[in-house]
Amino acid sequence: MTDPQRRRFLVGLTLGGAAVVAGPIAMWRYTGGHGHRMGSLPDLQSLPPDARFVQPLRIPGSEGLMAEIDLRRPLELSAQTAGAALFPGPPTQLWAYAARVPGGEALNPLLRARRGDAIDVGLHNRLGEDTTVHWHGLHVDEANDGSGLHPVAGGGQRRYRLKVDNRAGLYWYHAHPHGRTGAQLQRGLAGLLLVEDEEELALRQRLGLRWGERDLPLMIADKQIDAGNAIVYKDGADDWIGNRVLVNWTPEPYLDVIPAWYRFRLANVCNARLLRPCFLHEDKPLPMLLIGSDGGLLERAWPVDDLFLAPAQRVDVLVDFGALAPGAKAVLRSLDYVAMENEDESGAVAMGEALDLMELRVIECVTERPPAQLPPLDAMAKLPPPPDTADWPVRALRLRMDEQGRWFINDWNFHLSGHDPAFTVKRGAREVWEIRNSMTSMPHPMHLHGFQFRVVSRAISPPDVRGRQVAPNGLTAQDLGWNDTVVVWPGEIVRLAIDFSQPFAGAQRYMLHCHNLEHEDMGMMLTFAVAD
Ligand code: C2O
Ligand code: CU
Ligand code: CU
Repeated sequence: MTDPQRRRFLVGLTLGGAAVVAGPIAMWRYTGGHGHRMGSLPDLQSLPPDARFVQPLRIPGSEGLMAEIDLRRPLELSAQTAGAALFPGPPTQLWAYAARVPGGEALNPLLRARRGDAIDVGLHNRLGEDTTVHWHGLHVDEANDGSGLHPVAGGGQRRYRLKVDNRAGLYWYHAHPHGRTGAQLQRGLAGLLLVEDEEELALRQRLGLRWGERDLPLMIADKQIDAGNAIVYKDGADDWIGNRVLVNWTPEPYLDVIPAWYRFRLANVCNARLLRPCFLHEDKPLPMLLIGSDGGLLERAWPVDDLFLAPAQRVDVLVDFGALAPGAKAVLRSLDYVAMENEDESGAVAMGEALDLMELRVIECVTERPPAQLPPLDAMAKLPPPPDTADWPVRALRLRMDEQGRWFINDWNFHLSGHDPAFTVKRGAREVWEIRNSMTSMPHPMHLHGFQFRVVSRAISPPDVRGRQVAPNGLTAQDLGWNDTVVVWPGEIVRLAIDFSQPFAGAQRYMLHCHNLEHEDMGMMLTFAVAD
């Protein structure tokens, strides 16, 4: 799927962009503040050609990594170190959320809840530093959001009590201490949260795809692994790109599939790597339908060849292996793309380069062959169209980097400006947040705590995004759902519609930040308040 012409365009664009800001780039390089991306990486274990596709994909089970735990009952999670046999050779020390389960111990469990459930999770911090559990994507109050505003000190504990009032979908949880989120996630502190509701259960019945068999989560994270199988992280690093990819905590796994439709729920849990997943057979994309985004199901299914999945984003897709004969192989590849890292052209190759994530091996179907056709998917879920925001107030937010290589949202940098709210939104207000990225920047996956939003327009989008438009105002299929994280590409202006209604009383503070965790830790984050 390499497109040499597009590559050439990238080179031209990158150099063009660099020329415009030659001064700042030079300063950034030589201040040494954030380190040069490639230069800051440790000596890497070079990946032997036969190291990929050796282990079967981990399927959520009853114990170990990604074990399933129902949140019907209170849960005790302990943030701690834990050895895990991820690679051949010595075990890898993870930092993980551990829980007792009947079969033994669960690490970074896949949590399940239903919309309307009250959940109660205790965090016992057995690490030597602050941590939290942030409930990414959930409508929660400040106290239970698990942001760095409420750290739990090493040796300490606290409870998160919240009512799940989100639509069905794949959400996730992770550590969120100020300045240490990148380090703690790279070492492992993250897991998935699957929420169910009536619509989801109805769809599941119609699709007839059994969870754990042909309906599978794919939690994707790249890691820097050294020769001793240890996870490496350099504090103060910039965009942390891994040399190995874990899917469900399995390095570059394989999955046996029958020639039929599958449902995959992908979550990008990488620190910084923006993925462009595509299921390929002999370099041709397999039929794929996008049916859900961060905040659950879309109204209808959209055919796509591939999509962009930035750190923290999730998508729900159906993929058809039906045309493949037993013995055939397919691959889940992150395709190369124009990374547009205009302030550091040397990093563009690592960020946007093609990467094989998983192999799919077609095997004979031993039972009755499942139907080749899907049921109609034109009214899967009730989803209002993007709201008419003509009379909503607009809050302008501008993403930029200064001459010292520090990230800003308008004039706020979390380290320089302090942690007090940058502004207050009236509870119940409806606002348009217009996020504009500078042309000489890189894509930033911007994430809002506490609320899901609708993308209402994209303007000045790069060709790779414009080419995905399926609806007026530049919207892509992914934009048509509810989302909590949106990529704002260099030069782009993205407008979000946010309804700040919520059932909580008193001022609630939340974060808006880039989910490139190194950007977040460098202060590309602000606090805002919601109050009456
Ligand atoms: Cu997924 Cu502020 O985080
Ligand atoms: Cu979040
Ligand atoms: Cu960023």
